[in-house]
Amino acid sequence: MTTATKATPLAEFFGQHPNRRYIMFGGKGGLGKTTFSAATGYWLAKQGKRVLVFSVDPQASLSDIFKTDIFGKGPVKVMDNLWAQEIDADRHIREYQDEVRAKILDMYGLDKVPEEIEDYIAAASAEPAMEESAIFDSVVDILSEGDYDYYIYDLVPLGHALYYLSMAKVYDEWIGKITHLREEMREYEEVAARMKRQKDVAEDEILGELQYIRQRINAASRILTDREKTAFFFVVIPEQMILLDTKKAAEMFAKFDVPIAGYIVNRVLPDSLGAEGVPAYLRSRMEMQRGQLAEIEKELGSDVRAHVPELERDVTGLEMIERVATLMYGEVPR
Ligand SMILES: Nc1ncnc2c1ncn2[C@@H]1O[C@H](COP(=O)(O)OP(=O)(O)OP(=O)(O)O)[C@@H](O)[C@H]1O
Ligand SMILES: [Mg+2]
Repeated sequence: MTTATKATPLAEFFGQHPNRRYIMFGGKGGLGKTTFSAATGYWLAKQGKRVLVFSVDPQASLSDIFKTDIFGKGPVKVMDNLWAQEIDADRHIREYQDEVRAKILDMYGLDKVPEEIEDYIAAASAEPAMEESAIFDSVVDILSEGDYDYYIYDLVPLGHALYYLSMAKVYDEWIGKITHLREEMREYEEVAARMKRQKDVAEDEILGELQYIRQRINAASRILTDREKTAFFFVVIPEQMILLDTKKAAEMFAKFDVPIAGYIVNRVLPDSLGAEGVPAYLRSRMEMQRGQLAEIEKELGSDVRAHVPELERDVTGLEMIERVATLMYGEVPR
């Protein structure tokens, strides 16, 4: 069995980069992002750091791994120094809608929202943009309002994460253009107003709102792409397609300036199995893995920060989480 006792390269990474306090595990579906997020949170909490592990994934897998229902409940303490949070994006959308309703009632002095407007609100919420901005908003709230030493963002599978990042860029450009246009318009209006000797030009509320959204998106992407403060780890397994896909994704992430801190190889079949007269089926899988591990070593070299073996069961509950933490980081303080 692989029993790690000394600090591993992954533990050294954290030791050498104490300012990198926003931690993300990315990778294709089902490779171990949530498992490593939880184990990393566990290890850091055991070092006396205050840690929040959070996700915006409606699949609610943090609830599973911590064996506690935390969905939509805000930060829930799962052990000393460790909190977990699963954001209920739907609820954030509903809160948005309520805010819009309240604004409309206030602005027009009504006591009931007209039906056409209700329809409009419902239609707008069905837009994917609404969900994303609710998600961006919650992430910004979490990152800017908490007082944790570490924030571990348990990401959705790669494709989605890339989609969010690209949406952030698209939004930003789009809002940038509109903001610019509105500013030009306002200058023009001001000149026109001055010519007419009108004193006050009403504050441009839409412009204000747009700049606010832009500032929120920038805050989120600034944190997630900050080389000083963020560490993004890719989770891979020793399979050919995964390495290829991951390399492509890494290039994409680099384009969005996400600082890649390294790779963690999961589900490695332990060498010790080989000594135990394994069946041909398993032996050929092990050989396949050995080939892929060599390939990973060649391609990623010292960027590989840990190897985690295939365990005999799923990782749920603090005891299993501790085992994974030990395999990733070495000795866990008691
Ligand atoms: N080394 C391992 N040994 C045994 N089981 C593992 C190991 N790593 C992960 N698992 C199990 O594999 C499953 C998927 O892991 P996990 O949920 O961490 O992946 P994920 O990348 O977060 O998935 P998703 O993309 O769906 O969010 C879980 O049931 C987990 O317990
Ligand atoms: Mg997950």
